[in-house]
Amino acid sequence: MTSPPYAGALRDYSWQSFALWDGNMSCTHTFERRPSGDYCTTCGAFRGQLGHEPNADDYVKHLMTVLTAVHRVLKDEGSLYLNISDTYHDGALLGIPDMVCAEMRVDGWRKLEEIVWVKTNGMPESVSNRFSRRFEYLFHFVKSKSYFGNIDLTRIPPLHDRQPAIDKTKFVKHDTSVKRTGNVSYRDPLHSRPNHPLGKNPGNVWEINCAHEMGPHPAVYPLELCYRPMVASCPPGGTALDPFCGIGTTLVMAKLLRRPAVGIEINPQFAEIARENLASVDRETQTLSTILDQKEKDQSFSLDAFVAGK
Ligand SMILES: C[S@@+](CC[C@H](N)C(=O)[O-])C[C@H]1O[C@@H](n2cnc3c(N)ncnc32)[C@H](O)[C@@H]1O
Repeated sequence: MTSPPYAGALRDYSWQSFALWDGNMSCTHTFERRPSGDYCTTCGAFRGQLGHEPNADDYVKHLMTVLTAVHRVLKDEGSLYLNISDTYHDGALLGIPDMVCAEMRVDGWRKLEEIVWVKTNGMPESVSNRFSRRFEYLFHFVKSKSYFGNIDLTRIPPLHDRQPAIDKTKFVKHDTSVKRTGNVSYRDPLHSRPNHPLGKNPGNVWEINCAHEMGPHPAVYPLELCYRPMVASCPPGGTALDPFCGIGTTLVMAKLLRRPAVGIEINPQFAEIARENLASVDRETQTLSTILDQKEKDQSFSLDAFVAGK
C-alpha cells in the first residue's frame, strides 16, 4: 500500500527528495535549471522531486517507473493499494488518476476496485465557484486472477437485522416498485437471505478522518486507512511494501498486524521518524494481538473501531 507524492507540486518534501528520473543512464548530463527541477539538455532526464514535473505526462511517466518495479517484485497473489488524488491546473482537473490507471493497465495491472476515501474532516478549500473536494482514491490493483482476498475481518455490523425468511403473504418494497401484485410465493434471495453472520461487506466508500497532526511530514495518511487493505489482502506471513513510506504509517499497521514490512523513503529525516514510529508500536502490538484473538472468539467486536481509537 502506498501514497506517492501527488502531481502539481502540491507538497514540498524538500531537496532531500530530489531524484533522477528518466533519460539515458550512460549520459553525463548537462542540466538546465527550471523552476520545477532540472532537465538534462542531452537526454531529457529530470532531476527534482516526483510531483514537481512541469507537466502531467512526465509525472505519470516517472511514477510508472516505481509502479513497474512494484509489479515486478509483487507476488502473483499480492495486491497494491494506491492512494492518489487529482490536481487542479489552471482551474481544471488534470485527470491524473485516470492517466495513471491507463498506464498501469498497459503495464499488466488488473484494477479490482476503486475505493473512495471520504475525508470526513477534510481541509476546507477557499473556493466559491465549485464544490470542494472531500475524497481521494484508493485503487486496489492485483497482478493475477489468483490474488489473495479475505474481507471477513473487515466486516461491519449490518444496518438492519434481516431475518432468514420473510412473511410471504406481505408485499415488500421491491415488489411494490416492480408493480408485482398477488401472492408472493417465491423465494427471492434479495428478500429471504439472512445477513452474513460476520457482518456486512464494508463496501468501497470509506469514511475516515484525515491525520491532521502538524508533524514534520506534510502528507501522512491515517493509520485506519491501512487496516482493511492489510487484513483483506496481505495474508498472515505475507510481506507489506510501501515504496513511498513517509513516516511509516503502512509499516506501523503491518507491525500491529504482525506482518513483516519493507519501506522505501528517499528523505532520510522521514525515514528516521518511520524507524522511531516502528520502535514505539510494541505495546500496541501486544494489545492488538490480544484483540485479534478476542475477535476470533467474539465476532461482534469492532476491530475497525479499535484501530480508529473509538
Ligand atoms: C505522500 S507521502 C507518503 C506518506 C506516508 N503514506 C505516511 O503516512 O507517512 C510521499 C513520500 O514519498 C517520498 N518520496 C518522494 N520521492 C521519492 C522517491 N523517489 N523514492 C522514495 N520516496 C520518495 C516523500 O519524501 C514522501 O515522504
